[in-house]
Amino acid sequence: MTDLKNYHADLLFLKRTSFWTIVGWTIICLFSTFWSVATEKEIALELARKEALTVFNKDQAFRFWATNHGGVYVPATKTTPPNPNLSHIPDRDIVTPEGKNLTLMNPAYMLRQVIDQYGDLYKIKGKITSLKLLNIVNEPDSWERQALQAFDNGVKEVFEVKLVEGVPLLRLMKPMYTMEGCLKCHESQGYQVGDVRGGVSVSIPLSPYYITSSRATLRIYLTHTFFGLVGFLVIIFIFYRGKSRLTERLAAETALHESSEKIKLFAYSVSHDLKNPAIALHGITKLLIKNYRDSLDEKGVLYCDRIMKSSNQIISLVEQINLYMSTKEQPIVLETINANEIFQTIRQEYANQLNKRKIKNRPQRGRF
Ligand code: HEC
Repeated sequence: MTDLKNYHADLLFLKRTSFWTIVGWTIICLFSTFWSVATEKEIALELARKEALTVFNKDQAFRFWATNHGGVYVPATKTTPPNPNLSHIPDRDIVTPEGKNLTLMNPAYMLRQVIDQYGDLYKIKGKITSLKLLNIVNEPDSWERQALQAFDNGVKEVFEVKLVEGVPLLRLMKPMYTMEGCLKCHESQGYQVGDVRGGVSVSIPLSPYYITSSRATLRIYLTHTFFGLVGFLVIIFIFYRGKSRLTERLAAETALHESSEKIKLFAYSVSHDLKNPAIALHGITKLLIKNYRDSLDEKGVLYCDRIMKSSNQIISLVEQINLYMSTKEQPIVLETINANEIFQTIRQEYANQLNKRKIKNRPQRGRF
């Protein structure tokens, strides 16, 4: 009965442990999946941001170069007419000794022309803009306007992911500060060195990054599903192994109990069957001595005596077996005993045999 109870308790424990392990494993897998996917998206954005910065820096280098030269003189043509915004510069238009007409190009104009004419090569366009415009073409949109206002308050970079006409774009904008070289053309607007003159905004289409990251995301989902399932299989396997071990243990325990029950029955019947004839033997021999003492010689009496002693021994043996069986059924109770007393009894019981064989037995204090 207790075996079955133990079995059910252990099985319940096994079920609970397996259940919580599955719950834990699911949480770990989900957490790892979401974390990996989020990291993947962050990496994609970071790469796009780096590309935007590269574009920005390249344009900036171009502008600084032109600024350092105070603008660049190019032949005045139909496509490159003198810039009306530079009319306040005295030598905007010059003539070479050979009579060629040259006009001054400011950095923003120069870059705009490069972008207009070589747009295919340029691909990602940086837009120069300001809150105080010289040229209306450079007018900021609402997002750029907000960024420009933030620059005036000390912000160094604005960066955002935006859907523009359904296309995801990463927009990055950085301020442009007024330097010594800029004053030649912008001082008349009231700018001083260190002022935020405006900013450059760069838009990067995120689709190529999203495609790469969605491939990586798919890989993450697949590997996580695979390892998640392997984990589940391992847990289920361990559960069934544990369960079959428990069942085996129960079967072994039941078999053990059954066999010990059989032994008990056997011992009881043997002791019972033995005890009765032994008692009869003892009684009859007693009667024999009592009623026929005269007919028996000395040897006859001695034999009867021996029969009685032997039958007595059988009776006491059988009783001991019974005692042994019943003690086995009792729960174990621990109590202190006087070992000396026990040894004393043993010594007395075997005194005869010990004396016969001249075995000396010297009890010592504190030793057995
Ligand atoms: C050679 C003259 C010249 C120099 C040098 C120059 N700029 Fe300009 N800049 C212009 C002109 C003219 C425009 C407006 C017309 C255009 O876009 O071509 C302009 C436009 C801009 C704009 C766009 C907003 C607007 O007003 O239309 C910004 C921002 C700007 N410049 C910043 C700078 C900074 C910063 C420097 C120095 C690093 C600089 N510029 C050097 C002449 C110059």
